[in-house]
Amino acid sequence: MKKSMIFLVSSLLLSTPSFAAGDAAAGKAKSATCVACHGAKGISTNPIYPNLAGQHAEYITAQLKAFKSKKRINAVMDPFIQALSDKDMEDLGAYYESLGAGSDDSSGGGRRRRR
Ligand code: HEC
Repeated sequence: MKKSMIFLVSSLLLSTPSFAAGDAAAGKAKSATCVACHGAKGISTNPIYPNLAGQHAEYITAQLKAFKSKKRINAVMDPFIQALSDKDMEDLGAYYESLGAGSDDSSGGGRRRRR
């Protein structure tokens, strides 16, 4: 628990990811359609949808690009990905990373990933 608090605080301080020019504020604006499945703060209330909060921006962006190019295939995600540009995917990655893992205690069933 303590570890995840430290992670949360440090990821809020380091709001700009080092790898790319992902803009978390722009990503937030672009996440409106993602909320239905991935939760308002990137914590999904339904176990069939993965939590996105606190995942690395690089990972999220890479997954989005993989969905778009059909390297990773998922019929549910597909319609929401096709319209996104590379910049959109970088912004979304920055946004979800900036939320920090487990930032929303009010949703979800108290499930936490063990680290
Ligand atoms: C209709 C529900 C739905 C919507 C809307 C949706 N997703 Fe997803 N998303 C899913 C499902 C289901 C998966 C798991 C896919 C799989 O099993 O491969 C997923 C997986 C992902 C992953 C991979 C997570 C991981 O841990 O590997 C990312 C990143 C992601 N979604 C981002 C987004 C973004 C960004 C949006 C908005 C543009 C969005 N999703 C909209 C259902 C949705």
